[in-house]
Amino acid sequence: MGARILAVANQKGGVGKTTTALTLGAALARQGGKVLVMDLDPHGNASVHLTFYPENLDYTAYDLFHAEEGDAGVWDRIIKRREGLVFDFVPGHIRLSELEVDLKDRKNKGLILSEALARVRDRYDFVLLDCPPHVGVLLVNALVASDLVIIPIQTDFLALYGIRLLFDTIRLLNKVLPRPVRFMALATMHDRRASACRRILRLMRDKLGERVFETVINLDTRFRDACAQGRVIFELDPDTRGALEYSQLAKEIVSHENT
Ligand SMILES: Nc1ncnc2c1ncn2[C@@H]1O[C@H](COP(=O)(O)OP(=O)(O)O)[C@@H](O)[C@H]1O
Ligand SMILES: [Mg+2]
Repeated sequence: MGARILAVANQKGGVGKTTTALTLGAALARQGGKVLVMDLDPHGNASVHLTFYPENLDYTAYDLFHAEEGDAGVWDRIIKRREGLVFDFVPGHIRLSELEVDLKDRKNKGLILSEALARVRDRYDFVLLDCPPHVGVLLVNALVASDLVIIPIQTDFLALYGIRLLFDTIRLLNKVLPRPVRFMALATMHDRRASACRRILRLMRDKLGERVFETVINLDTRFRDACAQGRVIFELDPDTRGALEYSQLAKEIVSHENT
């Protein structure tokens, strides 16, 4: 069976996708899981965050989509490790944005990632995919490959409006996929002192019911500090609120798996 594949997706930018992929990945690894995090966003924010600068790298996620069938070595070329980092990492690259054109005539182009992941799945317990903020061949590959889509939703008014597009995409895919895409919404950057935020959180729970994680990620300025230092928040302070909340989320995900 192998790794569970978790895609972190939302068309809206700045909602906490990258932070969630990296911090949840670290939390799952700290709880004993073997974890791979992949940066599938052409912006490469996750890569830069971890100080893997795409312009200095010979191999990135981009190469996975152009590897010859049966190229067993491609994963070993693109997987990066570094001191202090508790998970394996595949950096992204600006050229990921060219895939739309590159793969135009390719058959089964939505299955490239899931077929490639089948070759490393037994090495890991979890694979997290940091998705791009737009609908296209990359996002489709990630959604098709995933066992669960985690949708970070900032608890502000405009965020709720923005997720309709993603639900439309999922609904469309579910019509053609052999197994439906499962999703869970995650409330992020929550400000519990703000009544507007609390109201949005209530709305999310009313509308989506069990499809919202119990765990809520509150605002924590240490996330920005972590990013600026090229680290994941646990490397700064494992007891900061944001770290504890992502640990809680990791437990929730593991317990879901067992039910
Ligand atoms: N819970 C949080 N509290 C405070 N800042 C956060 C939180 N989560 C993310 N951030 C910050 O918000 C910004 C956008 O987050 P990011 O994860 O990059 O979003 P996305 O990947 O969806 O564009 C980053 O500067 C990040 O450090
Ligand atoms: Mg991002």
